[in-house]
Amino acid sequence: MARKKANSRKKKSPANGVGKKTAPAVVNQTPAEEKAAPIVEETAPVAEKTEVTAAEPAPVEEKTAPAAEEAAPAVEKMETPATEPAPVEEKTAPAAEETTPVAEKTETPAAEPAPVEEKAAPVVEETAPAAEKMETPATEPAPVEEKTALAAEEAAPAAEKTEATATEPAPVEEKAAPVVEETVPATEKTETVVKKRTSTRKKAAPAAKKAESSPKKTTSTKKKAAPIVEEPAPVVEETTTINVMSDLPRRSVAFIGSECHPFVKTGGLGDVMYALPRELVRLNCDVRVILPRYACIPQQYQDKMVYRGEFYMDLGKTGREYYVGIMEYICDGVVYDFIDNQEFFSSGNPYLNLVDDIPKYCFFSKAALAALNFMNWIPDIIHCHDWQAALVPVYLRTLFQDSPVGHARSILTIHNLRFQGIYNIPTIQYWSGLPDSVFNMGALKQDYEDANMLKGGLAYADRITTVSGTYAGEIQTSEYGEHLEGHLRYHSGKLRGIVNGIDYGMWNPETDPALAVNYGLGNVLDHKMENKLALQKELGLEEDESKFVIGLISRLTNQKGLDLVSSIVPQVLDGNTQVVVLGTGDKQYEDTFRYYEDTYRGTFSACIQYDEARAHRIYAGADALLVPSRFEPCGLTQLNAMHYGTIPIVRETGGLKDTVEPYNTFTGDGNGFTFDRYEAGLLLDAINRAKTEYFTNRYHWDEVVQRDMAKDVSWENSAKQYKDLYLELTPW
Ligand code: ADP
Ligand code: GLC
Repeated sequence: MARKKANSRKKKSPANGVGKKTAPAVVNQTPAEEKAAPIVEETAPVAEKTEVTAAEPAPVEEKTAPAAEEAAPAVEKMETPATEPAPVEEKTAPAAEETTPVAEKTETPAAEPAPVEEKAAPVVEETAPAAEKMETPATEPAPVEEKTALAAEEAAPAAEKTEATATEPAPVEEKAAPVVEETVPATEKTETVVKKRTSTRKKAAPAAKKAESSPKKTTSTKKKAAPIVEEPAPVVEETTTINVMSDLPRRSVAFIGSECHPFVKTGGLGDVMYALPRELVRLNCDVRVILPRYACIPQQYQDKMVYRGEFYMDLGKTGREYYVGIMEYICDGVVYDFIDNQEFFSSGNPYLNLVDDIPKYCFFSKAALAALNFMNWIPDIIHCHDWQAALVPVYLRTLFQDSPVGHARSILTIHNLRFQGIYNIPTIQYWSGLPDSVFNMGALKQDYEDANMLKGGLAYADRITTVSGTYAGEIQTSEYGEHLEGHLRYHSGKLRGIVNGIDYGMWNPETDPALAVNYGLGNVLDHKMENKLALQKELGLEEDESKFVIGLISRLTNQKGLDLVSSIVPQVLDGNTQVVVLGTGDKQYEDTFRYYEDTYRGTFSACIQYDEARAHRIYAGADALLVPSRFEPCGLTQLNAMHYGTIPIVRETGGLKDTVEPYNTFTGDGNGFTFDRYEAGLLLDAINRAKTEYFTNRYHWDEVVQRDMAKDVSWENSAKQYKDLYLELTPW
């Protein structure tokens, strides 16, 4: 059996110029590039149109401000959502969260011809009308428009101009005009702001010094004329650096997403945002990660951030200028830029509810692009993650198309299709300030009156990726498509699945400081027992190394197959087995697991908490780890488990299917125990097969333990695939 020594790659060496500004050489795009991503090229005219009309600043600005003020009460309420969310919005929110009401009818495959990029081309070129043609074929053309118009009328008088035209199906070019006028200030101001600051950049160095002494810049909503510009040099850099181990051409990449370990993490997205940039540095990428500066980021990191600059940015139809601070921290060759605004990011949890989150992530997406312009750091690639950053590709091809950052190509990665950022059109229009032309069925519009941020991002991104090959296929089916299957099939030409890995520095049983005893491939069998005993002691379980310990580390949500687990716990606890659950989430699951802990004291442990160190100890101390998910885009817990010599028991779905080869009793091959259909009986059967192997065939069990530890679940291979994708998009 071929075994690879874990962590053999962990050599460090000096920095390699990360943080260096990229020259905006991207400006001259070659014809080859145009071929590579036809969709973007075709969307350009929209933006061009937008910005051509945008050339009448003063009168429009005058017009826009009062219009925004006139915005309907519902929208006004949105501005202070924490205090009094409008009843209307409350009603919409849960529906949006469940992502139920989607335009299935309007997005039937018939309406969306073959998923060929060439075919898509003319559609996008024609912008709004074409998209309408494509996706609202004969099914429901006029009523949709009428309804939308009505909705807009109710929501915001500011949208009157839009409605007037919205009822006329054909002359959409003209329709777009008044809307564009409304967005003019956004574009104009954004660019003006950026330019102003940039031009004063060299002179302004002392300001940075001043600001550094008070890094916790507070948000102000007052308009402010004088820009304070930082000196780009004084950033804190952690000493550890990553060795570039690649002779692939250098590319610069901006990661934009809503969470990132170790600053803020609620799930696997945080792991990916941490690990993938680090691996890309090894592959000769210049990476900047742009994140919200949430108040909940631990103080130890807040203290390390250095003030990088600030500017003011308008937002949608709010008629206000918003403070955008940039706080910087460099670690292991990756530059982290935190977008600071206490009005949006002051809560203790990154995600609250859609009423708060929609404005927050409209702001974040726009501010991230404005910040890149401000810093004059124009990346080759902008790599966005999930719905929270999904408006970035849309902004890029509209309000920012003619600004420096407009030269970048975009990739949108779907980590979890269940969350899409859906709200009514007037609200998203109000906060995003995006032109009417993007609120069509080919992009943001969904159903009768909703806008879907993820859907828009998928339409405008140059490439779409998701986190496993199997999930890439699954999301094009009605079973897993979360009502976007038609849209995804339509865009399948630019969709790719790239499976996640784990960071071998963060997940390394040989050095993991959280473990009772460190171990490696050579001594796993002995030391795992010691970790098991320590875990049992820590959790108040019967301390007996002969027990079969099953771990479950998970967000406690409907996605994770917890109803299956909770229905079989009594059968699993046979006297020789212990179960440890670590997670937080839906109350029903938390309560169920607490109940089991009460009922089966000493054999069932429910840790209803988020505890990173404890998670590491469970990976090390358990014999098996359950991941019976209803759907799982990739899943990282099974990878962590395997790397710690803990055998996964998983449902064959998404990334679980791609990463866990079913154990074959006859050949002894495989990495874990699997089941296919979402049924409690099949999960129980998989657990029983694992137990049988553990109790009656320990030799083979131990072989699997060692095989799993030796399996390559690092980022190395997957990061190469991302790099290939970047190069494909930037073939110069
Ligand atoms: P998802 O992103 O859907 O939550 P993943 O398997 O991709 O699922 O990633 C989950 C990540 O979050 C893993 O790193 C896992 O260890 C971690 N995690 C989940 N729940 C907890 C918890 N309660 N305490 C500590 N870590 C947790
Ligand atoms: C999502 C998915 C999970 C995936 C993670 C990181 O949260 O639920 O399967 O591993 O993102 O991509």
